Amino acid sequence: EKGRLLFAGPVDFVKGVVAMPGLPPADRVEFCFAGRSNVGKSSLINGLTGRKNLARASNTPGRTQEINYFALGESFYMVDLPGYGYAEAPVAVVAKWQALLKQYLAGRATLRRVFVLVDMRHGIKSVDQEILTLLDKSAVTFQVVLTKADKVNLATRQATIAQVQAALSKHPAAYPEIIVTSSEKGEGLETLRAIIAGLG
Ligand code: GTP
Ligand code: MG
Repeated sequence: EKGRLLFAGPVDFVKGVVAMPGLPPADRVEFCFAGRSNVGKSSLINGLTGRKNLARASNTPGRTQEINYFALGESFYMVDLPGYGYAEAPVAVVAKWQALLKQYLAGRATLRRVFVLVDMRHGIKSVDQEILTLLDKSAVTFQVVLTKADKVNLATRQATIAQVQAALSKHPAAYPEIIVTSSEKGEGLETLRAIIAGLG
């Protein structure tokens, strides 16, 4: 109920940030969506807020190239991050994003939780492991959100959940509950809204 109310209220794009000095004042509870390129971060923001085009989602990996800030109600910042592990972008561009992503994840005092999105079809890959290790070191609590549940059968669903659970057991900063979602079908979105509302 709290989650539904929060997401039924105003959500406004604040700014796109390309370097640490551009971050807005750290005066709200903040949470972000991290994950490999194309995993469904922007789609999840659109699904949670019920807005089709709030965050730019696209079939082209590497669509989100800035740290995009959204004000959710009066006390939250919701943050859409550029994807990691996108090999086809120019090397210099990738290096710049990765550096910014690492500085942000390790250095944002008000960052309450990082939702690490993992594609249900693929599970946790080595590039995800690198981010999880970084989060362990930064002592930022993270929680895995499995995406695109509508694309897999029950066997794959169970196998991916088991793989992720096994991987998480090695990460002290991991929040043990895994959330299964489909932005397309709406699965898990109410659960996620409630978790987010509870961060405040
Ligand atoms: P970058 O910004 O490039 O890092 O990507 P992203 O993680 O923001 O992914 P985005 O939301 O742009 O989605 C990538 C593609 O996956 C798009 O074609 C989406 O329509 C599709 N997609 C995202 N979520 C779902 C889902 O729950 N189900 C299905 N079937 N497709 C999805
Ligand atoms: Mg995106």
